[in-house]
Amino acid sequence: MRVCVIGAGYVGLTTGTVLAEFGHEVYCIDRDEAKINLLNRGAIPIYEPGLTEMVMRNKKQKKLYFTTNTIEAVNKCPIILIAVGTPPCTDGSPNLTYLENVIDEISKYISSHKTIIIKSTVPPGTNEWVDEALHKKGLKRNLYDIVSNPEFLREGSAVSDMLHPDKIVVGVKRPEVIKTMQLLYQNINAPFIFTTLNGAEMIKYASNAFLATKISFMNEIARICDAYNVDIKDVALGLSTDPRIGSLFLNSGLGFGGSCFPKDLQALEHAAKQKNIIPEILIAVQNVNTTQINLYIDKLLQEFPSLKNKKITVWGLSFKPNTDDTRYSKALSLIEHLKTSGADIHAYDPIVTLNSSPPICHKDIYESIENTDALIIATEWDQFSKVDWKKVSELMRGNIVIDGRNFIEPYLLKRNNLKYIGVARP
Ligand code: UDX
Repeated sequence: MRVCVIGAGYVGLTTGTVLAEFGHEVYCIDRDEAKINLLNRGAIPIYEPGLTEMVMRNKKQKKLYFTTNTIEAVNKCPIILIAVGTPPCTDGSPNLTYLENVIDEISKYISSHKTIIIKSTVPPGTNEWVDEALHKKGLKRNLYDIVSNPEFLREGSAVSDMLHPDKIVVGVKRPEVIKTMQLLYQNINAPFIFTTLNGAEMIKYASNAFLATKISFMNEIARICDAYNVDIKDVALGLSTDPRIGSLFLNSGLGFGGSCFPKDLQALEHAAKQKNIIPEILIAVQNVNTTQINLYIDKLLQEFPSLKNKKITVWGLSFKPNTDDTRYSKALSLIEHLKTSGADIHAYDPIVTLNSSPPICHKDIYESIENTDALIIATEWDQFSKVDWKKVSELMRGNIVIDGRNFIEPYLLKRNNLKYIGVARP
């Protein structure tokens, strides 16, 4: 099938590349000429494991093309998949301008039937609006079908998530389009969940809101555990054996970041309030997440009443491991807090280097902790669990190690004269 993917960001680029891998002929469009030139030269603008090789392979096999020419791609392809960004506005609602612009543009070029798939995360009612907007622009209803097909890709494992999803959610207005969606995804072994356009939009928001709720719930439990000297890891293990709860997303720590959870919670809260519903749980989930960082700052202040001129090193800058994405990163929030305290802030991340200083970013993990008073681990990069703690202990001036992700074994530090500090890690 010929597919035109509009928006070559994390979602569009990964989706388009995997669709090409499945054997489709894919045209990825982006209005950012520099990005398209980069992709055509064989470079990938993001860090996503496995993506570069797959892009190269499919480009070479002439199944994947990158272009800024929307008109040509839309004319060629019966399937148009839209994956443009929907960043948050100041009132929490997602900014739908990019989507609106795309709809406006493609409406001018549609002269044969198109299946228009919306991957972008949008509030309930948006796909219906697109359907109506195209009609109002003069397009006959038999010229297009709108499909809401939200993505559930995690950064850092997006390629594998796209190849092996646990479900494919498809919201439709007319059942006739279901066949097209089944053909598009015929290489995937996962159940389809068919629903309405609004239903698919809600599944996406509810899914992210539920996962974020699990995290904030565990962070609240960790606060109570900390007061009663209970290890949160034991509690998480105890919960995980119950299939009704499940074992994933029970890691307490600095809280959730990234481009999805914070934005989608705000958007869902906004959508609820539009209908005069006060979403009490969603509000609490966000509050716990915002204040979680204070617990770690307080632990640091218990060791150093003043942080002025203290050298503090933060390991991990991205919002989670295996990505270069720092959007809503808890590490960056932590650094912002530290900046106000007069601390001398240093940082190390396996792939991220910040352009502005402080923090001073180091290329070498051990160099980053030379003469440091305290080390804070903000992201659970695999590399951090494999360091030589004896060497760390020798290089540091102080002995404080704060584990913001509960993933280092405390005894590894203790036997090297380092003081392990976590929340609810007695
Ligand atoms: C998320 C959803 O998982 C994905 O389905 C959706 O399409 C996009 O949003 P992503 O933001 O890439 O994916 O990362 P995810 O792995 O879900 O982690 C989100 C945040 O939660 C990270 O900051 C992570 O550190 C944090 N987290 C995750 C925890 O604090 N504890 C956990 O147990 C799990």
